[in-house]
Amino acid sequence: MRVKVPGLGGWSEDPLWATVYDWSVEHPRAGGLLWRIGIQSDLQRLYAATDELTALAPGSRVLDVPCGGGVALRGLRPGQGVDYVAADIAQAMLDRTTRAAHERGVADQVSTQVADVGDLPFDDDSFDLVVSFTGLHCFPDPARAVVEMARVLRPGGVITGSTLLNDSGLRHEPMRRGGRLAGLLGPGCTGPELLHWLGARGLPDATLERSGAMAYFRGVKA
Ligand SMILES: C[S@@+](CC[C@H](N)C(=O)[O-])C[C@H]1O[C@@H](n2cnc3c(N)ncnc32)[C@H](O)[C@@H]1O
Repeated sequence: MRVKVPGLGGWSEDPLWATVYDWSVEHPRAGGLLWRIGIQSDLQRLYAATDELTALAPGSRVLDVPCGGGVALRGLRPGQGVDYVAADIAQAMLDRTTRAAHERGVADQVSTQVADVGDLPFDDDSFDLVVSFTGLHCFPDPARAVVEMARVLRPGGVITGSTLLNDSGLRHEPMRRGGRLAGLLGPGCTGPELLHWLGARGLPDATLERSGAMAYFRGVKA
């Protein structure tokens, strides 16, 4: 059953939640406090994860799925020469990313694509880096999403991202349940499940680091 909560429409409706979330990421002090109080998580950890983009050489291909409001773009430098594909199932969120790319002066490196993470319209081994911030807990089938993200990653390429996990403690259970009722969150997964899925798809040394309700994963494709 889906409950209609004012301001919490589905992703295709560009929900108020997306504005709040993007605002929190762009305001390290106030947003950091919000993250600390709301989900006991360190916002700086997200910034550190986006640094993975900053180090990319010209010509590198990146897939950001789901790109949402484009928060990962904060890791991209103007003139870096990266081919950055921002993919999301909702056009409203792609529009947000396009606006963010212009504001950051990196629009020439960014293209957008409507895509379902469960059936990505990209070739095998076609990206050097796949980023997926706060995405897995939103997908209807996170295991399938891992299969697809690993498939399009080239051997030696890196996958990095963040997600809420089902085993982060009872304290976060109301948020998980509320998000599912509002239609914003999917079934989610536990940390061991995520590491198992990544291992089964050629990323046996993937790591998971927890920060409150959020966890950061990273792996290199064998
Ligand atoms: C919480 S937002 C996160 C986006 C962004 N990475 C960020 O950190 O702000 C979740 C996004 O997942 C997208 N989404 C949900 N289901 C999807 C699917 N099956 N395929 C691709 N994107 C999906 C939504 O449209 C939404 O933009």
